[in-house]
Amino acid sequence: MLNVVVLVSGGGTNLQAVIDGVEKGSITNTRIAGVISNNQNAYALTRAQKHNIPGICISPKMFETREKFNEKFLEAVDVIGPDLIVLAGFLVVIPPAMIEKYRNRIINIHPSLIPSFCGTGYYGLKVHEAALARGVRIVGATVHFVDEGTDTGPIILQKAVEVQQGDTPEALQRRVMEQAEWKILPEAVDLIANGRIIVEGNRVKRL
Ligand code: GRF
Repeated sequence: MLNVVVLVSGGGTNLQAVIDGVEKGSITNTRIAGVISNNQNAYALTRAQKHNIPGICISPKMFETREKFNEKFLEAVDVIGPDLIVLAGFLVVIPPAMIEKYRNRIINIHPSLIPSFCGTGYYGLKVHEAALARGVRIVGATVHFVDEGTDTGPIILQKAVEVQQGDTPEALQRRVMEQAEWKILPEAVDLIANGRIIVEGNRVKRL
């Protein structure tokens, strides 16, 4: 049984997709053991509560230094005992000690086809604004392992989505979430939970 902790900061629609997958059986061999948010008001915490999943808030704002936050944040994750940490719209930098301790056991959903529109400053709506400004015809989402860089870890799954005439950033974001994010993040969790993913260097191999 894969013990999963999901880290969130906002609405939690990706968390909901994973919850639904576990409850409906499209994700097997998996238990969501906890949800951690840096935002007390994140609706993602409400989603967790509605599904009887323990949720806590821990934020850098609660501590005098980032080092102290990093220490307590890692403790809060460790106590859950995760086999996999899922970043689902989590907007806080993951402490290097956590990346080291959970090497190739932290995954992130990014709303673009990496290596396009990713890295520092590319998150949420900004990604879709940049894609529309560039005039690309195809966008999408990526699930990747988290390493010390920003959106630079080994890629697990990607799914393409068409840009439509007249798309606003909000409309494009919604389509990428509906058609890509909410599909590939649950699929990635299920693949990992069933031992179908191995990392070889900076590449992922599917068994
Ligand atoms: C999603 O667009 C995701 O790709 C990005 O942040 C957003 C989170 O949305 N990382 P939600 O909180 O899962 O609804």
